Amino acid sequence: MEIIIKPTVAEAQQETAKIMRRQISRKPDSVLGLATGSTPIGVYALLAAMHEQGALDFSQVSTFNLDEYVGLEAGHPCSYREFMREHLFGKVNLAPSRIHFPDGTAKDVPLHCAEYEAAIVRAGGIDLQLLGIGREGHIGFNEPSSSLASRTRIKTLTPQTVQDNARFFGSADKVPRHVITMGVGTIMDTRHCLMLATGGGKAEAVARMAEGAITADLPASILQMHPACTLVLDEVAAAELKRCEYYRWVYDNKPEWQRV
Ligand code: F6R
Repeated sequence: MEIIIKPTVAEAQQETAKIMRRQISRKPDSVLGLATGSTPIGVYALLAAMHEQGALDFSQVSTFNLDEYVGLEAGHPCSYREFMREHLFGKVNLAPSRIHFPDGTAKDVPLHCAEYEAAIVRAGGIDLQLLGIGREGHIGFNEPSSSLASRTRIKTLTPQTVQDNARFFGSADKVPRHVITMGVGTIMDTRHCLMLATGGGKAEAVARMAEGAITADLPASILQMHPACTLVLDEVAAAELKRCEYYRWVYDNKPEWQRV
């Protein structure tokens, strides 16, 4: 796992956006896996600005979002589809036919989940998966105790995640209890995982993920087994890592050809 520690949230967001831009520049028909939540908002703003300036073309890009709430119609202001429209899709030249989401209103959830997995395979697999991390170590909405081999399926949010996401809904009782999420195995199949974590609230989960034991109790810890995982942090999110100095040393001594 490559761990990049930047002094500020803004610099961590810039590094993440630059890695995404490099991916799209190298492979204009990239398949991107995308995350929602507060963490990537600044990254999406930077990508939208790059597009606005003519420096980034999404016309051949395809996207698969990690997750969606069960029961929220398309167009619901708190749906992740709406979140993505507001923060990225409404601002770049992505073809609507290349945008994919789990459908939180699917009648046959297992069938829909199998079809989502099949659509990812048909697209050629995900080249770069953007991730955030939950306070309890979830990726996507793979909450603690999720199978580390799981595929796209329905999950029940933990009370902590419901609480953490209440800010989007106005109160915790309005947050749906269920989501459809790509599985841990689905995420592990992606060619490059790019996680951004910022703020002190993530420091413990980040340290356990990168330096602790691999365990379903902290699903993100499986990323230690991913062959190409980049973790971008601000100082505060990196505060509980034991080997910060080594991670900085690695970054400072990175061969020129590996730099973004
Ligand atoms: C959302 C997702 C989640 C979030 C995580 C962090 O699509 O996959 O894993 O990345 O809950 O959320 P924020 O960024 O709001 O702290």
